[in-house]
Amino acid sequence: MARHLVSVTDLTDDDLRALTVRGAEFAAGARSAALAGRVAGIYFSKTSTRTRTAFSAGALRLGASIVSYGPGDLQTNTGETTEDTGRVLSGMLDILVARTAGDQAEMRGWAGQDRMAVINAMSAIEHPTQALTDLTTLWQQFGRIDDLSILYVGEGNNTATALALALARFPGVRLELRTPPGYGLPSDILATALASAARTGAQVTERHDMDELPGDLDVVYTTRWQTTGAAHSGNGWREVFAPFQVREELWQRSPKAVFMHDLPAHRGEEVTAEVLDGPASIAFRQAENKMHSAMAVLEWSRADSDGEERQS
Ligand code: CP
Repeated sequence: MARHLVSVTDLTDDDLRALTVRGAEFAAGARSAALAGRVAGIYFSKTSTRTRTAFSAGALRLGASIVSYGPGDLQTNTGETTEDTGRVLSGMLDILVARTAGDQAEMRGWAGQDRMAVINAMSAIEHPTQALTDLTTLWQQFGRIDDLSILYVGEGNNTATALALALARFPGVRLELRTPPGYGLPSDILATALASAARTGAQVTERHDMDELPGDLDVVYTTRWQTTGAAHSGNGWREVFAPFQVREELWQRSPKAVFMHDLPAHRGEEVTAEVLDGPASIAFRQAENKMHSAMAVLEWSRADSDGEERQS
């Protein structure tokens, strides 16, 4: 059976830790031919620079062949269901990496079979492979995830949901989300993260202002104000987001904090150029880790199969 990654909640605590560390091993030069003889489909109906390239290059580096589909290529455009599409493709592909504008239910449609692993490369609701990249980057930076203090500033978008679901699984983590009013985490995701935090001893809090920010942070994290393909309606949203711009003064009380961003960035909107291009920023190493983390996910998705053949 193949393993699907539609949501962070599909992963056990052990999976999360193993994928975090394995991504760092690939970043440090580990090699694997785990996908030799396999075929991976790479379907992106939305734009992508990092994730599409990370999974394509990662699959090739693991020995797979790839079949790429763009937004106009599949019969889902003409009304074929994702369930039927997944069922058909599962007879031809070993893995399908998919980014669409749909929700988690659409992703589950692709994953309604167990022959082809389905990996969510970003849905409207969650970006789980971004969270795994972020965990690997934190692991590289700090040598641990437990007990880190992280401030997330910005929209409660699909990157934020995955990050909250993932970080809540690590004991002692303190994740404080500061999201603009009306642009917070979906309530069901926050409830799931809080339930995980209650189990692990992590702390997850969300506020809709920038008052009384915590000090001694390890990480400040932000994302674009408008997630890919999801423009905000109306004229007033920029004023709502403006107080949530990440600026250098945040470092006065947290001089050792690193800055993370899932990219692409818009300098002068969610973050100043001084921060993104400054000494605290690890955003471009984080971007590079997308391929290393993608390799860990691809390997994991077929790790129970006969193709596994690690070389280090
Ligand atoms: N962070 C991220 O998912 O980047 P892309 O949209 O370029 O894939």
